Amino acid sequence: MGFYFEDGILPEALPKYHLVFMRLFKGCPIQFPAQHINYAALVERSSHMSPKSRQIIVTSALPYANGPIHIGHMLEYIQTDIWVRFQKMRGHECIYICADDAHGTPIMLRAQAEGVTPEVLIDRMKIEHQQDFSDFVIEFDNYYTTHSEENRYFAELIYSRLKAAGHIRTQVISQAYDPKAEMFLPDRFIKGECPVCGTGDQYGDNCENCGATYSPTDLKNPVSVVTGETPVKKDSEQYFFKLGDYEEMLKTWTRAGHVQKEIANKMAEWLDEGLKDWDISRNAPYWGFEIPDAPGKYFYVWLDAPIGYMASFKNWCDQNQHDFDKYWEVDSDTELYHFIGKDIARFHTLFWPAMLHGAGFRKPTAVYCHGFLTVDGQKMSKSRGTFIKARTYLEHLNPEYLRYYFAAKLGSGIDDIDLNLEDFRTRVNSDLVGKLVNIASRCAGFINKSFDGMLAGSTGDNGLSQQYIAASRDIANAYESREFSRAMRDIMSLADRANQYIDEMQPWVAIKDEARHGEVQVVCTIGLNCFRQLVILLKPVLPRLASQAETFLNVDALNWADLETDLLDHQINRFKPLMTRIEPVFIERMIEASKEALIEENKINAGSLDSSIEPIASEITIDDFAKLDLRVARIVAAKRVEKSDKLLQLTLDIGSETRNVFAGISGAYEPEALEGKLTVMVANLAPRKMRFGVSEGMVLAAGSDDKELYVLHPDSGAKPGMRVS
Ligand code: MSP
Ligand code: ZN
Repeated sequence: MGFYFEDGILPEALPKYHLVFMRLFKGCPIQFPAQHINYAALVERSSHMSPKSRQIIVTSALPYANGPIHIGHMLEYIQTDIWVRFQKMRGHECIYICADDAHGTPIMLRAQAEGVTPEVLIDRMKIEHQQDFSDFVIEFDNYYTTHSEENRYFAELIYSRLKAAGHIRTQVISQAYDPKAEMFLPDRFIKGECPVCGTGDQYGDNCENCGATYSPTDLKNPVSVVTGETPVKKDSEQYFFKLGDYEEMLKTWTRAGHVQKEIANKMAEWLDEGLKDWDISRNAPYWGFEIPDAPGKYFYVWLDAPIGYMASFKNWCDQNQHDFDKYWEVDSDTELYHFIGKDIARFHTLFWPAMLHGAGFRKPTAVYCHGFLTVDGQKMSKSRGTFIKARTYLEHLNPEYLRYYFAAKLGSGIDDIDLNLEDFRTRVNSDLVGKLVNIASRCAGFINKSFDGMLAGSTGDNGLSQQYIAASRDIANAYESREFSRAMRDIMSLADRANQYIDEMQPWVAIKDEARHGEVQVVCTIGLNCFRQLVILLKPVLPRLASQAETFLNVDALNWADLETDLLDHQINRFKPLMTRIEPVFIERMIEASKEALIEENKINAGSLDSSIEPIASEITIDDFAKLDLRVARIVAAKRVEKSDKLLQLTLDIGSETRNVFAGISGAYEPEALEGKLTVMVANLAPRKMRFGVSEGMVLAAGSDDKELYVLHPDSGAKPGMRVS
């Protein structure tokens, strides 16, 4: 009995006095550590108290409703889902909340381009998103939308409370306006030349070539991405949330262990720079909630997006008879965790806690940031076929391969995570197929064939099962603190021990000897019990495999508590292969399909008003054109530029001389692929001093995305130095 109790598992027949003790205990909860989250304490707490002692809300960021889910997103949803499943297996109440983020300009414009209402678009996207998530075995308790009555209610409530307390002010500001589309333009919808280095086709917030940051009004020759018109400046009154009012609160909050250390450092920087008031309003036409006392003004999408967590939770409470206030009141003793990517940290660690604080709600227990997904060491790229949509992945590979691989790479920090496709294949094959499933397939055959599927009645003391139980404590700690890679490593080393044990016992030899049959049954029973324990430990990561294993082992749904028991004198079912190997061709096909999806997409886009097709620039005369001296050039050398992931350094032979040119094409070309090729360069461009040296011209390339660039090559026969006219 004490044995069970120690690991937090309440056996059915626990004597009454234990329950009384437990209740007393519950009345004086162990203090939540103020300085930092002590994971061991949380695990302890869950171990010694009633299984329902923790009430937890967990969220993942709400994906935008204007595009499909891709494997970069999946990193986050898989990370969160694993953590939630772990909490549930430990017997806690853990509610996993999410929704589509359904407001904002991009959604409005996309709906327009498709000729549908925003409602039709967001309804369709929500269905697609939910299907993708469910096929990746992500199990939300509620998946809702920010375009809901609950969300309108909470957005208005929070806004009105902030306003009543004097935290909202108005100010007339001047913003870019597209006179043709009759709308104000968000930064991302204005393009122009970088005010610092002059590179064309840059967004309104920063330059991809030189890295300068600026405001869209600084761009030279700006154009609206919507119509190609030159934006004008227009004054209008906007509503600001006075973030500065929360400086002290945020300073304290940052230091109280609610964020990872990397994020705390970042926040300290933001706080040192001083907190600017936040513009929370947008002018019509806008797709969102109208501000109650301000006709024609709408809440900026980032105001109502995090409120969407509350709204989705409220929607869940209403369906499940739960008390919303208990979780969101200011001194709630429930826990609230937000899992997000590092790109949206500012919204979750400054604006959101300030809004909650100002409106009299509880703040998050913690915000957990993760890094970005790269594929084979580089940003996901459409042209390379590594921008892989969730759906494309699912059409080629088992979702649990990716769940396992991400788990094997994820830690608690904010480092980027690389999906190395070759490593992915070998790791999954060796760990899941070669180690885990192998244990079951080695043992099941003997039990089924020679013992009618019956496990032995006792196994003596082989030590393995106790070793597993001992290791499971650390593994639980690792899950709790999001050190999934450590958990996977520890679990695989347990799997190694089981395989070694079977190797040593050689049941395939013993089975030949009638007198040693009992021994074979014991060895295979031990092997299958190890397998069962491994399945429990991996169940947060591999819920589908776990469910098939439960069928094979002929047991009810396994929980963490079941680690402590053995399966003896028990009938199992026939073994069916639980997972097959990844063949290289599966991955190749997925990459090819991702490239094809890009071609399809471009075809669709070409037929519609699409922001990715740049409008034609304003008219020039033949004399303007004649000013350009374009020359055929041979790329005699090309190399990467250290400390730049954009630039290649090219040595160009233009007949009369050679030129040194830095070109922002390294995302699209390997240097070796360019050497010896002919191209076209602007030979009379003023030399430009860059961080890495002087660039003496420019090579011509088509495309806008730095991964989708196509360098121009003249037809064969052209000679270096020939003028292009
Ligand atoms: N709608 C906002 C979030 C609002 S939350 C109140 C948003 N949506 S998103 O669709 O762009 O991203 C959703 C989540 O996926 C974010 O946490 C984001 O960081 C994460 N990821 C998107 N692309 C990613 C990678 N390539 N890698 C890892 N995570 C990424 O932001
Ligand atoms: Zn620049």
